[in-house]
Amino acid sequence: MRIGVLTGGGDCPGLNAVIRAVVRKGIEIYGHDIVGFREGWRGPMLGLIHPLGLADVEHILPLGGTILGTSRTNPYRDGGPEQVRQTLAEHGVDALIAIGGEDTLGVAQRLHEDGLFVVGVPKTIDNDLSVTDYTVGFDTAVHIATEAIDRLHTTAESHHRVAIVEVMGRHAGWIALHSGMAGGANVILMPERPFSVSWVCQWVTRCLDRVSAAIVVVAEGAIPEGGAEVLAAAEVDAFGHRRLGGVGIWLAGEIARRTGAEARAVVLGHIQRGGTPTAYDRVLATRLGVHAIDAVHEGDSGVMVALRGTEIVRVKLADATAAVKTVPQHRHTEAEVFFG
Ligand code: F6P
Repeated sequence: MRIGVLTGGGDCPGLNAVIRAVVRKGIEIYGHDIVGFREGWRGPMLGLIHPLGLADVEHILPLGGTILGTSRTNPYRDGGPEQVRQTLAEHGVDALIAIGGEDTLGVAQRLHEDGLFVVGVPKTIDNDLSVTDYTVGFDTAVHIATEAIDRLHTTAESHHRVAIVEVMGRHAGWIALHSGMAGGANVILMPERPFSVSWVCQWVTRCLDRVSAAIVVVAEGAIPEGGAEVLAAAEVDAFGHRRLGGVGIWLAGEIARRTGAEARAVVLGHIQRGGTPTAYDRVLATRLGVHAIDAVHEGDSGVMVALRGTEIVRVKLADATAAVKTVPQHRHTEAEVFFG
């Protein structure tokens, strides 16, 4: 078989580990031909294709980003799936492995419905894909945010300040929850539950009295009660998403104004997506890659490989993309024990 691989959507650490696993098992165990499509769905639309051999995946296991490049191209908006079909036929590609989040895998699902052979691999630092416990990239993002929080504790305590750390995650609070818990944050604000600024100020004041500093972790999609998401830009991408960002700076201003304390905001931004993947992400990515090529080899189209507990399983792409996985109430309640 000739199998194409692509990475779509926002990059994250661990993508190259998936590509390496697909190539290694695809060639060495099954004897398939593997090709890479560049820049997400733009690759199969425009024929941006090149062979992927064993030499191409040497040394890429710990490398961040993606050797294939990525984009937020949406074939169902930017020119139609017919171009994808034509490219695959022209280059004799029998199946595609799409490594992506809800948008990339949503396209994969539609292409599968339209008769193409597609298998999905879940990646996104946001960890917001249903039917998989974790996505590739999430653990690394949490690790980076946790290290930042650890560092902010010492400088905030030295200056008796409030440090507000804004993390990514779009409409899900997973990065905020995990990094906030791991970093011992005094308040964690997530998109799933609108927050009261006066409560935040009360928690912060209590901390300042107790330990002379306070750390607030706020997800970029967190919303103040009665308010709206803070947007970094007005325009929407090819999948209709607005760019979030700015709630941390806004909140720092509110806290300083209402409590009289010195407050500083730190926006971690794309640092959470850069650099080398953690050992956990490398192992998860490698296992998902191995199982994705197995699924293709066995003729199983329209599936996504997923982590359930400690096992990799196959689930329907349709189920994986049906709804965003958000933080449930009981996880919020657990975190709240440590607020203030
Ligand atoms: O989906 C991953 C993500 O990093 C989100 O957490 C964030 O809102 C968005 O992508 C940022 O996108 P961009 O790279 O286009 O700025």
